Amino acid sequence: NPTNPQMEESAILERVNCRAKGGAPGFKVAILGAAGGIGQPLAMLMKMNPLVSVLHLYDVVNSPGVTADISHMDTGAVVRGFLGQQQLEAALTGMDVVVIPAGVPRKPGMTRDDLFNINAGIVKTLCEGISKCCPNAIVNLISNPVNSTVPIAAEVFKKAGIYDPKRLLGVTMLDVVRANTFVAEVLGLDPREVDVPVVGGHAGVTILPLLSQVKPPCSFTPEETEYLTKRIQDGGTEVVQAKAGAGSATLSMAYAAVKFADACLRGLRGDAGVVECAFVASQVTELPFFATKVRLGRTGAEEVYQLGPLNEYERAGLENAKRELAISIQKGVSFMKK
Ligand code: NAI
Repeated sequence: NPTNPQMEESAILERVNCRAKGGAPGFKVAILGAAGGIGQPLAMLMKMNPLVSVLHLYDVVNSPGVTADISHMDTGAVVRGFLGQQQLEAALTGMDVVVIPAGVPRKPGMTRDDLFNINAGIVKTLCEGISKCCPNAIVNLISNPVNSTVPIAAEVFKKAGIYDPKRLLGVTMLDVVRANTFVAEVLGLDPREVDVPVVGGHAGVTILPLLSQVKPPCSFTPEETEYLTKRIQDGGTEVVQAKAGAGSATLSMAYAAVKFADACLRGLRGDAGVVECAFVASQVTELPFFATKVRLGRTGAEEVYQLGPLNEYERAGLENAKRELAISIQKGVSFMKK
């Protein structure tokens, strides 16, 4: 263990097993891209999660520093760092959940699709590693464009003969987190009391908040609906512009990623009724992938929920979303067929 030389492998295992014997559940989680803008706060929040017993931090730069830093937190998870491609396999072996925020973020004027050329290759390499070293892990894919990287990951897993659609989840939780916040603001409620389903995908018009299904039940004027839908769809761009060249959402994304990973871990533990939105293989529409609410269980996304009743505004939005989504999905599949 390069960053924690005092702690022998056997001592780490003893600590993990000891905790398991005490009835405390412990899952092994890897973060790929752990030294990045999202990766660092994500690693910190994962180290604070009581469901995590072992936390592997992998990156192609700076992971030893991040690991040393985070390993000093007096929480339960044992942290190990891995640097560079030659340590990818060690980082992945035995993992229950792999969270992937590796890749380049947007700058002002860029769309998520502009990131495709760089991030597609990164996601492919990382997923090849997963196929080999932890084919049963639940994968939480954050790297953009999610609408294309999830189809890429699926093709990599198919090629390796290990594809299980239930275990591949594109993370759209930030759209839900934003929707809850913005809707709560309009309604004058605490965001923790608000639940907004966001379906479709994770880019521009493919982000489709279902404001007619907000809990607690409420209604919006046409102006409010228009304002909220646009603000939720453009939430990422709002942050990109405010950061003015220094990247995209990292802190709210890390929060959303941990909220989602925690739901996956509770599902793995066998908790009942764990339901969150995610971009998954789906038969809800004619498209092969679509984001809706899914029920998370011991084997991943065990149930994919239907859209439920949509109003006219949402039905029109759905048609727009599907048109763009079809192109992005095809782009991912074509990349792998090349
Ligand atoms: P960043 O540039 O700060 O960090 C990315 C990290 O990935 C860097 O540490 C870099 O060294 C690492 N990396 C690059 N190539 C790698 C490889 N082959 N293997 C492992 N690690 C590698 O970027 P940031 O802001 O953390 O964003 C990461 C990704 O997350 C971007 O693609 C961004 O668009 C996406 N994102 C997704 C969101 C979502 O809702 N799904 C929201 C916000 C960002």
